[in-house]
Amino acid sequence: MDVAESAAAAGTRSTSSDDDRFQAPPFTARGPVSEQLLAALRRPTADADETLAGFSATVADALARTADVARDDDLQLSLLILHGLHYGGVVDADEEWEWHPETVAARVAIERAFERQLRDQVPGVAAPPAEAEAVASALFELTKPTPGPSVARFIAKQATDEQAREYVVLRSVYTLKEADAQTWSIPRLSGRAKAALVEIQADEYGGGRPERMHSALFARTMRELGLDDAYGAYLDAVPALTIASFNLMGMFGLNRRLRGASAGHYASYEMTSSLPNRMLGDGFRRLGYGTEVTDYFDEHVEADAVHEQIAGRDLAGGLAEQEPALVSDIMFGATAAMLVDGWAAERTLEEWTAGRSALRRERGIDLGTRRDEVA
Ligand SMILES: [Fe+2]
Ligand SMILES: [Fe+2]
Repeated sequence: MDVAESAAAAGTRSTSSDDDRFQAPPFTARGPVSEQLLAALRRPTADADETLAGFSATVADALARTADVARDDDLQLSLLILHGLHYGGVVDADEEWEWHPETVAARVAIERAFERQLRDQVPGVAAPPAEAEAVASALFELTKPTPGPSVARFIAKQATDEQAREYVVLRSVYTLKEADAQTWSIPRLSGRAKAALVEIQADEYGGGRPERMHSALFARTMRELGLDDAYGAYLDAVPALTIASFNLMGMFGLNRRLRGASAGHYASYEMTSSLPNRMLGDGFRRLGYGTEVTDYFDEHVEADAVHEQIAGRDLAGGLAEQEPALVSDIMFGATAAMLVDGWAAERTLEEWTAGRSALRRERGIDLGTRRDEVA
């Protein structure tokens, strides 16, 4: 199923039950917040008094009880579902839920707690002067390649076929929606920064060719690997930190207040993409896969060598010149991206080097079969 078809399928209403008018998603709850939320989303907003009774207290209670929002399965899954009401294609639900006061309040409450944790834990970096070149070079310095273990290097050199598939499953949480989270920032910017972001996004969205949209290239990689490209098909197997990495960019994109962080986050993504994608393409070639599988990674080797310049100088740097007060948030966004993705990568490498799966395997996920091994 391609992305368009799966989105269409996700919008199909179930008529099998009067009570649950919308289809259950292909993933399950991880605690009281996601449990009540998923149950409520199967019914129309008209039933909210009943289905979301006590919900804000349940959210407040879960937030009060967690010491680590980034690693909290229930809260991160709930935030992904709530952001999904804006993206579409995550849960089949009454579209009125997008701006229902209860879902908006829950989204903001979880985001605020997540942001507080990051503001506490993200290492402080010196803010450069509010000049485009200075901001770009500070971001390049922050994101410069480091020797030592990395997920991309592991895939290039030693990952098994199974581990390479796990990588694709983990990455799919964001990449099947690439780069929608950053698009939220477009109307929240102006002038040079806005023009830069639009220039990057034109490539991300295929430059007018839907089949070249990066999300579509990744969906094809999944299908070629024999994996299901429907959004959320493997979400049950994905740990909280990987979901947190995706939620982070959605939170930055959806809050105008955080437009500096969104720009810094995106610059850091573009700056840490070209080399790792070369290694990822090499890894899949080493495992015997052809261009149908590696196209997504190969595309990013060249594209992001250009994007990192635009994102550093014109998006983040341009924004800093337009709004000097945002420089520290630009650096915060970049550092937060590296911290959260670093946590997720560390966890993946720990599991792999210990000979374990990086997925939540208790969910019994089937990662498909190599096409050339299908009889
Ligand atoms: Fe891309
Ligand atoms: Fe890019």
